[in-house]
Amino acid sequence: MAETADVESIRDTDERKQNLVDSYKAVMEVSWNFDYETSIDKVNDLYKRAKTNQWNADDLDWDVAIDPSNPIMRRENTQYYDMPFFKRLSAQQQETFIAHSTAQMLSQFLHGEQGALLTASTITHGVEDVRAKYYAASQTMDEARHVEVYDRYVNKIAMHYPMVGWLKDLIDVTLKTENVHKIMIGMNMIVEGLALGAFNNMYQQTDEPLLKSITFNVMRDESRHVSFGHVFLGPRVAAMHQDDREDLAQFAFDAVGILVNGQKDVDPGFMKVLEVSNINPQDFMAGMKEAAEQGLVQDLPPGQVHSLKDLMIPALVRAGLITTRTKELFEQAGVPVNEDLTVLEAMEDAKSDQSILNQQGASY
Ligand SMILES: [Fe+2]
Ligand SMILES: [Fe+2]
Repeated sequence: MAETADVESIRDTDERKQNLVDSYKAVMEVSWNFDYETSIDKVNDLYKRAKTNQWNADDLDWDVAIDPSNPIMRRENTQYYDMPFFKRLSAQQQETFIAHSTAQMLSQFLHGEQGALLTASTITHGVEDVRAKYYAASQTMDEARHVEVYDRYVNKIAMHYPMVGWLKDLIDVTLKTENVHKIMIGMNMIVEGLALGAFNNMYQQTDEPLLKSITFNVMRDESRHVSFGHVFLGPRVAAMHQDDREDLAQFAFDAVGILVNGQKDVDPGFMKVLEVSNINPQDFMAGMKEAAEQGLVQDLPPGQVHSLKDLMIPALVRAGLITTRTKELFEQAGVPVNEDLTVLEAMEDAKSDQSILNQQGASY
């Protein structure tokens, strides 16, 4: 009798939750490898670092209160604060808009982390080098923990937003490729470059202690993930036939295009943010245009980074994934090819995780 009730309960729950599932078939090749050595010492180093820097989300202080006296984000810490349109809003509208636009971004962190969980496990299946499989498995665990922490945080603040369309498209294109190197480009260079910049900016902007400690710890893991794209893929791309290199370079260009073109429109989730804040979308767009004309959109506050310019494009350049041909395509598309690696290298695990910990004076 009890067993029947259990089966019925599972069936009910499955039916209710089915519309939250999005399944499709992918064409990724799976590789066994009976050579247990690697030719890339730096992949071993990253795996060792991943093992010693595991952390447990349960150790964070989840009891911290988040209320108007301790908001996720103070309005003066946001990019909107100096914009004339923002100053014209009422105090109530400003508070609601900042709370919900921050929550909408945190939901993107959550959904993007699920995408990273899927891609990291796919790399574990597909990559031929066994030590790279170890590393990708460690990244898979990292990404599971990232999904866990952002899910717990989003539930705590009780403001849920759907995944933006272009981010879902970008990760789907990455997961649907047959080539494990393209998965690394889409995830470890493009999506994680985007994420590392966004986490850094969130870390700089928020004073809320729980979110600050979550973001710090996640960022430390992500810097390892971005390094993997470099140390594993860089030498392989250099050794490739030009036609194969062009194929990867085209994939990188197309993937960046999804992001650049997708960001031109206001996403339906963000429309919801405007709606709950009682802001007319046309007024918002006009306000952003006005701020751009006054130079208030491009200039980031000190310490903040521009993901595309400072992280993604330099990572692609460094790995040899922008060819003479695709450089022209980027420039025609209005995306300058920045070859300066300074910000990227400063944010990676160039030295050791512990030194980053000491510099920041933070811990979990
Ligand atoms: Fe992650
Ligand atoms: Fe990651």
